[in-house]
Amino acid sequence: MNDYDAMYRDGTAPWEIGRPQSAFDLDVDGPRVLDLGCGTGELALELARRGHEVTGVDISAVAIERARAKAATEELAVDFVTGDATRLDLGEFDALFDSGLLHNLHRHGGADDYLALLPRLAAPGAILQIVAISASSGEGWGLTEDYLRAAFTEPLWTDTSVGGITVTATVGDLPGLLMRTIRKP
Ligand SMILES: C[S@@+](CC[C@H](N)C(=O)[O-])C[C@H]1O[C@@H](n2cnc3c(N)ncnc32)[C@H](O)[C@@H]1O
Repeated sequence: MNDYDAMYRDGTAPWEIGRPQSAFDLDVDGPRVLDLGCGTGELALELARRGHEVTGVDISAVAIERARAKAATEELAVDFVTGDATRLDLGEFDALFDSGLLHNLHRHGGADDYLALLPRLAAPGAILQIVAISASSGEGWGLTEDYLRAAFTEPLWTDTSVGGITVTATVGDLPGLLMRTIRKP
């Protein structure tokens, strides 16, 4: 069992708010959608309700088990996969979402491998959105606007934008960042 499994089991995961982070633009094109670090699946399920073919990946088997149970309750066909998002081989997607994964990899290790893999998961023209806790949160960790801008540059990515948002957590609101970029065709 990893730390994430333990947090999901004992109910101390502060990101478990029962809905997707509101900063995301869920109005995306293309059928194939990937939710990286999907947790118990709130974002993936909402995207499936909107008619997308959704794959959700998380390293926590406990989270994936819960996500599958939620999907079954609603009879939604989401492909929930237990896996490490720094070493995926799942083909290409038209829209990719990361709700709180990159900031964890940056804090605990694996961010460079993940950033190197993302271009291979994104089809030409695909949109990638990342919600992260901001380094300005005072938590002692988090991402900066400069870090996100430097990670998504030409020639692989285009039209990158980063802006301040509010991240909702069970412990209260935290300052966050939303990064949006397009895989260069
Ligand atoms: C801050 S939580 C966010 C969960 C979910 N996206 C949400 O918004 O509720 C980060 C998630 O990333 C997952 N995670 C951490 N490292 C991972 C990795 N290497 N590969 C896949 N998932 C990972 C954790 O298990 C956890 O569910």
